[in-house]
Amino acid sequence: MVPRRKFNQTLLVLSAVELLSNSSWAQSHHQDLLFKKIPSSGQLIPAIGMGTWITFDIDQPTNQLENPLNILKAFFKAGGQMIDSSPMYGHAQKVLGQILPQLNQSSQLFSATKVWTIGNDNGIKQMELSRKLWKIESFDLMYVHNMLDWKIHLPVLNKMKDQGQLKYTGITTPHGRRHSELITMMKNNPIDFIQVSYNMYDREIEKEILPLARDLGIAVVINRPFQTGGLFSRMGDKSLPQWAEDIQCQTWAQFFLKFIISHPSVSCAIPATSQISHMQENMFALKGKMPDQHMRHEMIKYAFNQT
Ligand SMILES: NC(=O)c1ccc[n+]([C@@H]2O[C@H](COP(=O)([O-])OP(=O)(O)OC[C@H]3O[C@@H](n4cnc5c(N)ncnc54)[C@H](OP(=O)(O)O)[C@@H]3O)[C@@H](O)[C@H]2O)c1
Repeated sequence: MVPRRKFNQTLLVLSAVELLSNSSWAQSHHQDLLFKKIPSSGQLIPAIGMGTWITFDIDQPTNQLENPLNILKAFFKAGGQMIDSSPMYGHAQKVLGQILPQLNQSSQLFSATKVWTIGNDNGIKQMELSRKLWKIESFDLMYVHNMLDWKIHLPVLNKMKDQGQLKYTGITTPHGRRHSELITMMKNNPIDFIQVSYNMYDREIEKEILPLARDLGIAVVINRPFQTGGLFSRMGDKSLPQWAEDIQCQTWAQFFLKFIISHPSVSCAIPATSQISHMQENMFALKGKMPDQHMRHEMIKYAFNQT
């Protein structure tokens, strides 16, 4: 087992006063958002971030990026911080670099990207290219994407972290595959974050990975929170249950997101969207009451007849 500094990773809803004393960007309208602690540092992050796969893969000049610009504006306005990308996502990192400087939100941004290549030198070159594309000085979080050549990249990430070139190291897996390798990796290597797939339908990580992350003090970021949109099709024209009002869910998106972020081991879910109204709707799930363990079971039963 890797010794690490541990912090209680409890649900944390900050009052306006706590927010103001904890962060320079917080404003009073960000009160009562759900924040989680990054176990290895104690830093607080809002429990919803945003993904950029497909939705930000747009090849356009800066003056034609009005839609992603407005999506990012809505994200920051609602208190969002973590943006997730990768060299795998086509033009997404370039688009972020075209837009972010216009928003002047560098103190609020929690930048996360990935190294996705084979070999030490290729990895170093790719990370430097990503930094230039984003137009930032350094990343908060660098993952090894889909565990590709992780034994080569992880020592480089650790060195970068020691030298202050990034704050956190991480690793991601594709859904359902390589989970046993991830578990072995987590037990034997110091790592700050994992990123895995989890949603109300795909819950395999509940068995081993989520409890292990909690024991080891590893932050967990959740990708595919809507099963890449599949959860909405699964619901068809089914209505939300009446009791969804008790946890302030007005839409299925909020129902799906609150299910995820209320899990004690989860630090942040990163839904992707190409629509401003969806961004506003998703970020609203950071607010209000969260389901407890009993209600989380009821949510699964109601939506999917699962136990
Ligand atoms: N191995 C890895 O590292 C890995 C793997 C997968 C994903 N990821 C990361 O995780 C992020 C999220 O996963 P994902 O992109 O696969 O899928 P997702 O977030 O589960 O789903 C995105 C889909 O949901 C729709 N959507 C979003 N908000 C909605 C709302 N409020 N109402 C109705 N539909 C809504 C979007 O359509 P609209 O555009 O119409 O809103 C889009 O089609 C990725 O973008 C990426 O950053 C990482």
